[in-house]
Amino acid sequence: MKRRAIFTLLAATGLSACVGGGRGRGDARPIVIAHRGASGYLPEHTLGGYELAMRMGADYIEPDLQLTRDGVLVAMHDETLGRTTDAATLFAPRNGGYKVADFTLAEIKTLTVKPTGTGKTSYPGFTPSAANPWSIPTFDEVIRLVQSSPSLVGREVGIYPEAKQADPAMEDAILKALAQSGYGAHSKVFIQSFSDETLRSMHAKEQARGKPLPHFLLGAAVMGADGVARLGIGTRGAEPRLLTFQDVASFAQGVGVSIQYRAYPVTKAYIDQAHAAGLKVHGWTFAQAEADAAAAQYRRYLDLGMDGMFSNYADLAVKARDQYVRGR
Ligand code: G3P
Ligand code: CA
Repeated sequence: MKRRAIFTLLAATGLSACVGGGRGRGDARPIVIAHRGASGYLPEHTLGGYELAMRMGADYIEPDLQLTRDGVLVAMHDETLGRTTDAATLFAPRNGGYKVADFTLAEIKTLTVKPTGTGKTSYPGFTPSAANPWSIPTFDEVIRLVQSSPSLVGREVGIYPEAKQADPAMEDAILKALAQSGYGAHSKVFIQSFSDETLRSMHAKEQARGKPLPHFLLGAAVMGADGVARLGIGTRGAEPRLLTFQDVASFAQGVGVSIQYRAYPVTKAYIDQAHAAGLKVHGWTFAQAEADAAAAQYRRYLDLGMDGMFSNYADLAVKARDQYVRGR
């Protein structure tokens, strides 16, 4: 089921947003998450884009993940290669299209990622370190880049992978890659998904290995007419559901909520209730490119108590976050 359809259905439940409630916020410094890398400036989900975001001060790099035909995790938002690469120029369609799952890693490595939106093919004064900065990276390559952050940018950058498919094979591949790279409960890592089933399953597998990792469940900030905040979620093939924060807290450390769904605005009352349940709140996606408008938008959500922001423009997010922290 497509995400937009899910929230249309949620709207039909009669739950409505409301504003109000008490004070309180997470006490850690709000984090900046580089959404698809420096996707507002350079081709999304590329080593070049991730590196620029790291150099701009992002705290975490966000790779969305897909599995190739030969079972390798690659950083790619879409299920298909068409929107962001030159696949249509280099390959004939397979099964009528360009699904990542129909191409081997060797084939995928011949592709070049194109800039989208406000992105360009280069950024002034920036030369990427990677040998192939605009090819589709494997998850392992992204991890290696992030783990080189102390030498590359002088501080430790975290990684915030998203399981794009509710697929046990993807769960296992993500957990294996992270474990082999030494990630554990206290590492700078968050695993995200729109599927609670995926995160529940991963949580169980991690517990069995004695290595529970921090999770964020993605969805909509639903405030019920009863004044109780819940997370509105849905997965393909299932009816959308409203999860209580107590339930989410049994397998996740936070919720990632859209700031774009007008029917479900993120409010202070919503964030307060999440914090009261022990959950952090990260918002997606901050895509305002104009500096003053962006600063005002970050400030607004930071004032509500938001703990982290997925941004296409990490430099603007870092600047706003730092000003906010200095002023509080
Ligand atoms: O993962 C948070 C945010 O990135 C969700 O949106 O579609 O860009 O993965 P999407
Ligand atoms: Ca994502």
